Amino acid sequence: MAGGGFAVVGPVTGINNGKITLSVVITCIVAASCGLIFGYDIGISGGVTTMPPFLRKFFPSILRKESGTKPNIYCVYDSQLLTLFTSSLYLAGLAASLVAGRLTKILGRRNIMLLGGSTFLVGAALNGGAVNIAMLILGRILLGFGVGFTNQSAPIYLSEVAPPKWRGAFNTGFQFFIGIGVLAANCINYATSKHKHGWRISLGLAIVPAAIMTFGAIFISDSPSSLVERNKLEQAKKALIHIRGKDTDIEPELALLIKNSEIAKAINEEPFRIIFQRQYRPQLVIGMIAIPFFQQVTGINIIAFYAPVLFQSVGFGNDSALIAAIILGMVNIVSILVSSYAVDRYGRRILFLQGGIQMFITQVGVAIVLALTTGTDGTKHITKGYAILVLVLMCFYAAGFGWSWGPLSWLVPSEIYPLKIRPIGQSMGVGMNFATTFVLSQTFLSMLCHFKYGTFLFYGGWIFAMTIFVALFLPETKGLPLDMVHTVWEKHWYWRRFVQSKPEDTINHEY
Ligand code: BGC
Repeated sequence: MAGGGFAVVGPVTGINNGKITLSVVITCIVAASCGLIFGYDIGISGGVTTMPPFLRKFFPSILRKESGTKPNIYCVYDSQLLTLFTSSLYLAGLAASLVAGRLTKILGRRNIMLLGGSTFLVGAALNGGAVNIAMLILGRILLGFGVGFTNQSAPIYLSEVAPPKWRGAFNTGFQFFIGIGVLAANCINYATSKHKHGWRISLGLAIVPAAIMTFGAIFISDSPSSLVERNKLEQAKKALIHIRGKDTDIEPELALLIKNSEIAKAINEEPFRIIFQRQYRPQLVIGMIAIPFFQQVTGINIIAFYAPVLFQSVGFGNDSALIAAIILGMVNIVSILVSSYAVDRYGRRILFLQGGIQMFITQVGVAIVLALTTGTDGTKHITKGYAILVLVLMCFYAAGFGWSWGPLSWLVPSEIYPLKIRPIGQSMGVGMNFATTFVLSQTFLSMLCHFKYGTFLFYGGWIFAMTIFVALFLPETKGLPLDMVHTVWEKHWYWRRFVQSKPEDTINHEY
């Protein structure tokens, strides 16, 4: 078989492409709920790091800086140690996601979700009970392992289990739960911020989302593809009947999964080496490098970690800063629902392009407002009116992210890899995402301190570049069964030179 790699030989008919059963919905809700722990952590760390009792206990130097006269708003929170608290999770997540690729292949997607949930649970307990910074960081490392495992396994599980026609909508469930996690965390932070031990409650309550998703994962079966890959054919058949419905003929789908798994196994090479082969260049460039990297340089985490800090330093009080973060979280959730509705109807590309343009305009807008109001050195106090304008711009930004780079950065990579390289591809992508988040969060506060409002222009520049990238290099993948996605490269003006397959390797399929 030339270039096409995993193309299926001969016509495949009779696969039910669009039927939605109650069990597939429940199964996917459980898998998508893995996003809860990631979201909860993102939301909680941004808020906790503005709580005076937390800072007093672990980072007293920041409080001293804050109480200094006429502080520079861009530099108040510039502490390497404080950033390490937030970003240590991403280093650990990076390590775990790389191991997860190999583990999901051996243990299955479902078991890796379980492993991730349990590890996160222990990390949450350690953080809630932390008496020193070592416990705090150790807890965060365990939380990082947890999200490393779940972020690797849940998106591919969702893409494998969902009916192809609605794969986009089902997969966006992952980002939806991330959004719920962020919002829940923001509300909890708001409620606990008045208490002396509020930070402890906020951090410790991470046990709840971890328990929800771990408990749910106990009751779902592994994805049929993963079961077939691990030679559990009977279980795969049962799982397929369960999710596709008793009155659906699952034999054609099962046959296709078996065939693809055999083709994948026949290639007796390390998946880690295979991904560098020429024929997988599109998956390598788009799924493992560009999308995860670009998602982070939209600046989303900077806004998420930093929204409460930013609003506080641009003139909102402690409470209103958290309220502002809650507003952003709600906008985000609604916009993810918009994405769920649109992604299988209008496609991935249009959402990426529209969202990109919207985020670009708003990042530039924030930079301009901050430059004009806080002065180039950042010492002028921003008026309430302008602070609200910043909030409105950020809401538009959050909406743009919520229907584009948020959910689609989990969806598109998970659907473009052929079975053989799916676990490793997803691992590399999550690793790339976390590595970028780590570098950005580690450098953001000093960047803000030095480049001031220019920091937002920096992200605006990246958003511009990624929107052009999507326009030129990302083909549409909506509606195609996973095993057919490879055909999009063959028709693409640029990628087709890497993946040329003989005409008989492709199948005629009606969608
Ligand atoms: C990203 C996170 C981000 C979150 C915001 C996720 O898709 O990977 O980095 O914090 O969305 O909701």
